[in-house]
Amino acid sequence: MKFFIDTANLDQIREAQALGILDGVTTNPSLMAKEGITGEENIINHYKAICEIVDGDVSAEVIATDFEGMVKEGEALAALHPQIVVKLPMIADGVKACKYFSDKGIKTNVTLVFSAGQALLAAKAGATYVSPFIGRLDDISTDGLNLIEEIRTIYDNYMFDTEILAASVRHTMHIIDCAKIGADVMTGPLSAISGLLKHPLTDIGLEKFLADYKKGN
Ligand code: E4P
Repeated sequence: MKFFIDTANLDQIREAQALGILDGVTTNPSLMAKEGITGEENIINHYKAICEIVDGDVSAEVIATDFEGMVKEGEALAALHPQIVVKLPMIADGVKACKYFSDKGIKTNVTLVFSAGQALLAAKAGATYVSPFIGRLDDISTDGLNLIEEIRTIYDNYMFDTEILAASVRHTMHIIDCAKIGADVMTGPLSAISGLLKHPLTDIGLEKFLADYKKGN
């Protein structure tokens, strides 16, 4: 399972990268705004800075909502760095743009996916990644993990290459459950990733080991 961090915060990206388990980064316009990154030039420089920190794929989302606009923006984003993945919204023009980019060998991430039907369309359009938002489904009393299971079944039935990128992950149990189902990738905040480290018996055990070592030395 690949681990992506879902943030535009460079310190958090560095921290996850330093752990040695990071496979990529996802961003979106809200995450950029949260870090105060505004204006085309600053946004572009920020994507480049992220690419310098991580080794893997970095999703950069288009703002345009029409096919021509998405193609223009996506081509410019893809030209920034070989690690950039063009992130496209799950709307009709987004599907068309996905097909356009996949035909050209440019990586894509189809975002804002909330149903198995949308995920099927993304795979048909040749998406590299499909991003079902499990946390936002949970927020409205709908089982986000069930969607991951449905997509896994459909993609396995037809051997689609599109990778299931479980997005809108909120906590460690989301990560574990997605891993059990067989999501190819998860993207979540640093807190969810760091949460995987924690177990009180590890801390108690380590404390005892160190205390016993000190007794004998
Ligand atoms: C990632 O690609 C998505 O943009 C992100 O996971 C959305 O997460 P949120 O629902 O916590 O905003």
